[in-house]
This record gives sequence, C-alpha cells and structure tokens, in this order.
Amino acid sequence: MRTVEWDAGTVKMIDQRLLPTEYKVVTFRDVEGVATSIREMVVRGAPAIGATAAFGLALAAHTSAAADVHALRRDLEAAAAQLRVTRPTAVNLFWAIDRMLDRAFNDDLDTVEAIRHTLQVEAQEIADEDVRVNRRMGDIGQEVIRDGDHILTHCNAGALATVDYGTVLGVVRAAVEHGKSVHVWVDETRPRLQGARLTAWELMRDHIPCTLIADNAAGHLMRTGKVDIVLYGADRVAANGDVANKVGSYKLAVVARENGIPCFCVSPTSTIDMSLAHGDDIPIEERDPEEVTVIRGQRIAPEGVPVANIAFDVTPHRYLSGIITERGIASPPVGLSLRRIMGAGPA
Ligand code: MRU
Repeated sequence: MRTVEWDAGTVKMIDQRLLPTEYKVVTFRDVEGVATSIREMVVRGAPAIGATAAFGLALAAHTSAAADVHALRRDLEAAAAQLRVTRPTAVNLFWAIDRMLDRAFNDDLDTVEAIRHTLQVEAQEIADEDVRVNRRMGDIGQEVIRDGDHILTHCNAGALATVDYGTVLGVVRAAVEHGKSVHVWVDETRPRLQGARLTAWELMRDHIPCTLIADNAAGHLMRTGKVDIVLYGADRVAANGDVANKVGSYKLAVVARENGIPCFCVSPTSTIDMSLAHGDDIPIEERDPEEVTVIRGQRIAPEGVPVANIAFDVTPHRYLSGIITERGIASPPVGLSLRRIMGAGPA
C-alpha cells in the first residue's frame, strides 16, 4: 500500500516506527490521532507528513458535528492549529495545511457537504500529485547517475518518506529502470535509524544492491574513492538554496566537496520555501532526549546525561552541485535557478 491513504472515512498509514521487524498498518479516525501520528513519527519524511496533514484535515471535516459552514470552518482552523504544532522543520506540513484551508474557505462552497467533499478530493490530489512529482523527479534526476555509480544517501527519502516511489530513492529507482546498475551506501542515521530501518528495507525489497554503514564511516568511504555521488532529501529549502535535512547531511556535503564528489539534494517544489531568504531562518526541530539515550527500550547512556537531540541541519547552498526538482535541476547559482523554477524571477 501507499505510505498513507484515505479509506472510507479513516486515514490509514504504515507504522514506520515498527519497521523493519514488523509491517503494520494503523488506522486513525480523528484528527487528534493523525496529529499524534506525525509527532511520534508513525509517519515521517516531509512529503508524507504533508499528505498526512491533508488527510487529517479531510478527516476533521468528515467527523465534525458542525451544522453550518461557519462552524465547520472554525473546526477546521482548530484542527489545522493542532497539526501545525506537530513538527516544525518539514515545510510540506504547512504547505499542505494552507492549501487545504484555502480550499475550505473558498466562497463558492456554501454547504457543509460541499466543503467535506472538496477537502477529501483535495487531500487525495495532494497525495496523487506527490507520486506523479516523484516519478518526474526520478526521470530528471536519474540523468546525474552513471552506470556503475556508488551512491551515498542519508536518512530515508524513499517511498516511505513520501506517498510512494520516493525522492532520492525515486532517482535511484529511475536509474535502475533506465538499465543502470548502481549500489547504495546507506547511512544508518542516528538517532532514529531511518537509514538502517527504512532505506535498507526499501532497497532490499527492490533488490537494489546496498550496504549499510555507521554514519561515521561516510567520510572514510568518500576519501578512499568508494563514493561517486551523494544524494539526500530536504525538509525545507530556503530561497537561496540552503537545504535543511536530517542532521548529518551538512557533514556529508562538506566532505563530498573536500573530495571532489558531487552532492545533490532531491526536493519537490512543495519543499521549497521561497518566503525564507536563508537557511538560518529555517526552524530546526529538537526532539526528546530519549531518542538518543534509549534504543528500542534499551538505555545506552548514563541516566541524567544532558542531551542535545537536534533533528536537522542546514547545508549552505555553496556545497550543493544542484537541487533536483520535478521542474528541472536547479544548478549553481542555486538561488537564481530556484527563482526561475518557482516562477518568481526572470524566465
Ligand atoms: O525526521 P524525519 O524522518 O521526518 O526526517 C526525514 C528527512 O530528513 C528526509 O530526508 C526528508 O524529509 C526528505 S524525504 C523525501
């Protein structure tokens, strides 16, 4: 199934906290449950979070007891407020909520039923569009992959981080579909281990050769010529091309530059936030210290040790060879290319 789906007045998603040991689909019947699922990372990855929030708002409309459009719109604003505070960095969350509210507040909708129906259709369109966009990005991005390449990636920017197909893994899948043989170095990605648990699982299911490494091994592999290209996703891209992604991405880009290895970010335009001038303006999520001190119920650090669980970092645009989007590759100077791609600057 897709990472997240609407199913007869419920929202279903794969519980990513349990993979790879258990594949379980969980069902949510109210927006509170959907908000919790995003906060607790049942579902994660910027595009998947956006689609989930959209389905959450469709669900809020579906379950609302409002008798008129004004009351329903008030319920939707309250639901949106609950969803907005779940995760701060992935801009797709806010992009999808704003898109849904925009539809709900359309003056042409003058019945509760019309708003409910419109939101369900819009959420489904956000989800379907994500899959189309990933396919398109894959087709465009696979051109930077050569036959025989060893690709290094971080975190999970696969089908599970999106509605389906993936951004980085979409590029990898498209390269394979074009007949190229590739091998992927998979960073385990502490503390939540999205690489070890999710990326390795996806690649193995697709029979794409991969090797799991401890995060700290990436520099050695790059210095010794074992990596041809680095690809990672984005949670938010600023207008100048600075990229916020899973913590550890910045280090990879710097070491890639030091070793003359191209480093691309793969990001749909829904992750590009033209309202922020620089990466320094991107809010960086800090999460529960226990994600660092406890692994699957097992404490690995002394009780009470101070912890900084910083979930994302920012790669300054100068370290990127380009940003692969569904509208083309933004090449350096990335800020200028993004303005063109986003239609906000000279054509
Ligand atoms: O904390 P997560 O697992 O939601 O972080 C996910 C990432 O950092 C991904 O690389 C990013 O969202 C891009 S997913 C296509």
